[in-house]
Amino acid sequence: MAIDKPSNKVSTKLSADDWDEANFPRPNDNDFDRIVERAISRRGFLGGVLAFGSGAAAMGMGLFPTNSTAATGTASTVSTNRFPFTPIPIQTDGTVHVPAGYSWNTLVSWGQPLFSDADGYDVTKGGGAVEKSDRVFGENTDGMEIFSYRGHEILAINNEYTNRDINLPAQQEGVPANAADVLKLQNLQGVSIMEIKESENGWQVVKDSPFNRRITHNSPMKIAGPAAGHDLMKTAADSTGTKSLGTMNNCGSGRTPWGTYLTCEENFNGYFGSSEAIQDQKPNQSPRGYDRYGIGADGWGYDYHKWDARFDTAKNPNEPHRVGWVVEIDPSKPDSTPVKHTGLGRFKHENAEVALAPDGRVVVYMGDDERGEFLYRFVSKDVYVPGGSTEGLLDNGTLYVAKFNDDGTGKWLALTPETTGMASLAEVLIFAREAGSAVGATTMDRPEWIRVNPHAVEGYCCLTNNKNRGVKPNAGGDDTPTNGPNPRESNHYGQIVRWRPHNDDYASDTFDWDLYVMAGNPDVYSNEYGGSKNINAGNMFNSPDGMAFDSNGLIWIQTDGKDNNEADFAGMGNNQMLVGDPVTGEIVRFMTGPKGSEVTGLAWSVDRRTMFVGIQHPGGDWPDGNGALPRSSIITVKRNDNKLIG
Ligand code: FEO
Ligand code: CA
Ligand code: CA
Repeated sequence: MAIDKPSNKVSTKLSADDWDEANFPRPNDNDFDRIVERAISRRGFLGGVLAFGSGAAAMGMGLFPTNSTAATGTASTVSTNRFPFTPIPIQTDGTVHVPAGYSWNTLVSWGQPLFSDADGYDVTKGGGAVEKSDRVFGENTDGMEIFSYRGHEILAINNEYTNRDINLPAQQEGVPANAADVLKLQNLQGVSIMEIKESENGWQVVKDSPFNRRITHNSPMKIAGPAAGHDLMKTAADSTGTKSLGTMNNCGSGRTPWGTYLTCEENFNGYFGSSEAIQDQKPNQSPRGYDRYGIGADGWGYDYHKWDARFDTAKNPNEPHRVGWVVEIDPSKPDSTPVKHTGLGRFKHENAEVALAPDGRVVVYMGDDERGEFLYRFVSKDVYVPGGSTEGLLDNGTLYVAKFNDDGTGKWLALTPETTGMASLAEVLIFAREAGSAVGATTMDRPEWIRVNPHAVEGYCCLTNNKNRGVKPNAGGDDTPTNGPNPRESNHYGQIVRWRPHNDDYASDTFDWDLYVMAGNPDVYSNEYGGSKNINAGNMFNSPDGMAFDSNGLIWIQTDGKDNNEADFAGMGNNQMLVGDPVTGEIVRFMTGPKGSEVTGLAWSVDRRTMFVGIQHPGGDWPDGNGALPRSSIITVKRNDNKLIG
């Protein structure tokens, strides 16, 4: 996501992390010399495991001797049997490109009515009515999943954030001037659920389907799990600490084996502000966790707190504790209440990837997308029984953080009152970042999407980038020296780490790891910033973010990086979607997005003949053209011969 700064600041778009760092107190660079020294000493280790540049050994090969990333380094511009298309070059223009033999169409765009009573909603000038703003497709699409229920295909999609300046055109720089403005912004974010259907005219939203639903920043939620009912979860409006309103900054997604949707709350901190500017002025007196999670007096310019007291932390200091969770939604039951699962921990959730251990326990992998934060895993106490009750499966269990060792092994460290020294399990979960620091988790380069391979017992996580690696501590003051899976200082290209649980058991507490790819620019650098050997001038990219496996076991990689196509990023063009072979390490480019956009969110139709891809925050006038406002949209991609696409 990219956010507008508040009106009293420069209006340049910043990343969420940049905004937090610019506006919230962070630990000063401490012991800088020692950090640099450790980073330099790490290079000795890396030279033995990873090699960079043309002619070097493929990264990771020594760790996974069989079925490994034997990257050829030569095939990225050549189609192979595993990639039934000719890879496409980079693009820098304002539209979408796919390979020859494939076509794309727009399925749904921000502001499109999901119900007939919202047919008058007008996005042409960004001035849609507040009354209908919770009846239309939300803005800035992100994670999504498709569900099949009694012959209906139901698409659940996150609407991560909203462009204030576009949706409030009457207000200077889109800063809300009244409660109605705030309500409109709240309505355009959250989750959109809708039935979709393919006919001879292509895929369309089934308007007025009983499955269509909008979940917004005001929708009732149930809070479940060990932190539910704890004093830290209680507010003036909810003395029970079990009922909250809204799900916010819904980023990545997940799905359960029992057919429910998981939506993940990421940069929730930006919606809160304070009528008393105590947090920013006296950081040491902020409520517990406020500094670590970036909760300050101004927020990100949404100004909710000035018109909706729920978001004023001076009045409701516990309200921020009620976001930052994974939320479960049953798309087959439009009247069901979404459930916030506190067992999965509170942090800036990217997505939630569910796997099953051989004994049936439910394992959930989750990333915390902030510089130097952690990778988490949850293992349920009870086992999943198809058709049986799933109550408590995502709450009763143990939360872990990852510890990566430089020798290619790793361990999941349990987060409990005993291991962390924290007072209760509820506190461990509410302040999961603090718990992770307490046990010495490995600081990561912004963990984004995690996926498990349907053809092998292994997980993959996009570590999108981290300009602070080896430069400054994370928000909790943990040093962030270069380390095994995060081997480059000032890492602005990103990498994908892969782990294999011991005993082929996702519930195992130990694993081996390697790097599937290190993005980089071999045209600019001949060292580690040139990328791993499976990167070349024909397939280079930066900032891997979204990710999904298809049914063939190929891994699709979406990017959210710099698209200026200059200097360190020359030759990388617009953000894009690539596809990789986990066995050979080969990676080729399949799609490019419009200038200004990030490509995020990926799902397949039930018949696997259509791929659904999300385009977030496009620039220019995409997709409508003719000078129209840009609209975040979901597109369909098909083969022209209508054969399977993954
Ligand atoms: Fe919403 Fe970390 O991406
Ligand atoms: Ca993302
Ligand atoms: Ca990102």
